[in-house]
Amino acid sequence: MCPDSSSQIETVLQEERVFKPSPSAIAKSNIKGIEQYQQMVEAAKSDPENFWGEAALKELHWFKPFQSVLDWSNPPFAKWFEGGKTNVAYNCLDRHVKQGLGNKVAIIWEGEPGEVRRITYQELFEEVCRVSNALKEIGIRKGDLVALYMPMVPEAAMAMLACARIGAPHSVVFGGFSSEALRDRLNDGEAKAVITADGGFRKDKIVSLKNAVDAALVDGSCPSVKSVLVVRRTCADVSFFPGRDYWWHEIVPIQSIECPPEHMDSEDRLFVLYTSGSTGKPKGVVHTTSGYNLWAHLTFKWIFDVQKDDVYWCTADVGWITGHSYIVYGPLSNGTTTVMYEGVPRPSNPGAFWDVIQKHKINIFYTAPTAIRAFMKSGRSIPDKYDLTSLRLLGTVGEPINPEAWMWYREVIGANNCPIVDTWWQTETGGVMISPLPGAVATKPGSATLPLPGIEADVVNADGDPVGANQGGYLIVKRPWPGMMRTVHGNSQRFRESYWEYLKPINGNLVYFAGDGARRDDDGYFWIMGRVDDVINVSGHRLGTMEIESALVSHDSVAEAAVVGKPDDLKGESVVAFVSLESGKESSDELVAILKEHVSKEIGAIARPDDIRFTNALPKTRSGKIMRRLLRALASGEEVKGDTSTLEDRNVLDELRK
Ligand code: WT7
Repeated sequence: MCPDSSSQIETVLQEERVFKPSPSAIAKSNIKGIEQYQQMVEAAKSDPENFWGEAALKELHWFKPFQSVLDWSNPPFAKWFEGGKTNVAYNCLDRHVKQGLGNKVAIIWEGEPGEVRRITYQELFEEVCRVSNALKEIGIRKGDLVALYMPMVPEAAMAMLACARIGAPHSVVFGGFSSEALRDRLNDGEAKAVITADGGFRKDKIVSLKNAVDAALVDGSCPSVKSVLVVRRTCADVSFFPGRDYWWHEIVPIQSIECPPEHMDSEDRLFVLYTSGSTGKPKGVVHTTSGYNLWAHLTFKWIFDVQKDDVYWCTADVGWITGHSYIVYGPLSNGTTTVMYEGVPRPSNPGAFWDVIQKHKINIFYTAPTAIRAFMKSGRSIPDKYDLTSLRLLGTVGEPINPEAWMWYREVIGANNCPIVDTWWQTETGGVMISPLPGAVATKPGSATLPLPGIEADVVNADGDPVGANQGGYLIVKRPWPGMMRTVHGNSQRFRESYWEYLKPINGNLVYFAGDGARRDDDGYFWIMGRVDDVINVSGHRLGTMEIESALVSHDSVAEAAVVGKPDDLKGESVVAFVSLESGKESSDELVAILKEHVSKEIGAIARPDDIRFTNALPKTRSGKIMRRLLRALASGEEVKGDTSTLEDRNVLDELRK
């Protein structure tokens, strides 16, 4: 076993490799050593309600304390911390200001063109109060849903916190989604207002967010939306509709900084965030106030082992759950300095990330495996030009990380000196579920290691029986936890069926399953094997194959489509679409380009197929189900193995092979 401080790392890759926290790292950590972790696991297991109740009292501010920790009398509908009243914005801002942290920097922001803003807790508090009052002025009331369609600017975090302050749940829509996808989400949630910007900078171009909002709202297609608040970011020319549109810079600065936080019930909605499932339209995942706040707070504190003066940077976008929990709520609830960066590495600045780390002396860096693989490919000479010695801890999220990328991250970015936390979780779980605690749990390249205290995860077969060591199975969670999603917006049946009734109850208890396969090794470590449903993971972005299929079929030329993921060295998976055309339509390179563009327009560029293959027919079972297993094998150029006897027309396979 190699201590983390060791510099004598063999470059030979072995999966058996284990990196123990070094004694000096343990001494500096909040959770010291495996014994302390085990004590926490035991405490949480023997009396979960006491464990979470104590944590909630200690870590959050309460206007009124809760009466019960958990009501699980109607599973899977959990109620946490009932009777309690709190406010997430208060926990992220007011309490720090009251405790004398007003001058501490809350957000360091860097725009893609290079400008930097440093916003203290006092300033953020005041600005959030102004935005809150502005939202009230444009007619937003407690309980109204407010959509955000924003670039990575501090105003995005301010808007989220302002919504939380006045009790208006937010629904952040990633700025890379198309106007069509935005419209679906606005209508599903019946959003009352949209907060957006005149544009954002991305890869040296301007992304026209306001134009997309206008397109989504055109001709009354989102009747619930009454107002649009627009941040001026790029100064691009945009249309302005008086009576509906308001400029942020005109109505926010004139507001008062007095805005008492709403006293929210624990189970009041904090936000809805849409994510892809294996069937139908994206689901609005609902998270509520206290449980989510506690989960984001506690997991951030445990996993990133935050110290008083740490500068922390997560490279995600606020449009994803990672941005919600680990750019905004987790860090700010802990009073940490969180970095927001508008840009991404790009040809004009391939070292952009390392430049940000060097400039702002980042201590904790959290990014996605797909980014690490891209850096690996362009070579260490780029990061080697920068001073990365401020780094103490590295994290990954979003997809399985291959051991080669893990080792490269450790050696080249972490100088063999930084523990790596590979964090497994989902939009639905609110925060991290399985991850090493850096001062306690030894790491292995490619493993998310062990569940956090209080999380009873396991790997089981379809009957709910635990599989043996090193056997693949379904990754499940056996108990409710504070950060769990509460329901699917507007569809509690879908919540029940897709997550809690997918597998049979174990010992009479419902178990949570959200689509991943995994195995555990002899030490009980979890190795996530990826989705086992029709969800694919492209560059850490979660896409439903059915959504892409519906987008394709909505084009006049397309009769049928089947979409599968194909393993990809850089992106994890790439999107391959098998398409059969309406009679009379001819396949052509031009049509390939048109269909790719069509998917971008329907969903967003992240869903654009990498490869479109035309076929006369799709392989189906006699009952008409598309046999994706065969298509996956074909897409990856593998031999089609296994039973094909249910295939309705065997000629289809031969045709596809050609
Ligand atoms: C899916 C959830 C978690 C926030 C970002 C993505 C995959 C996530 C890991 C990891 C292996 C991972 C899973 C999961 N995933 N983290 N550390 N190792 N796979 O959130 O969009 O809800 O996607 O991302 O497949 O189910 P999401």
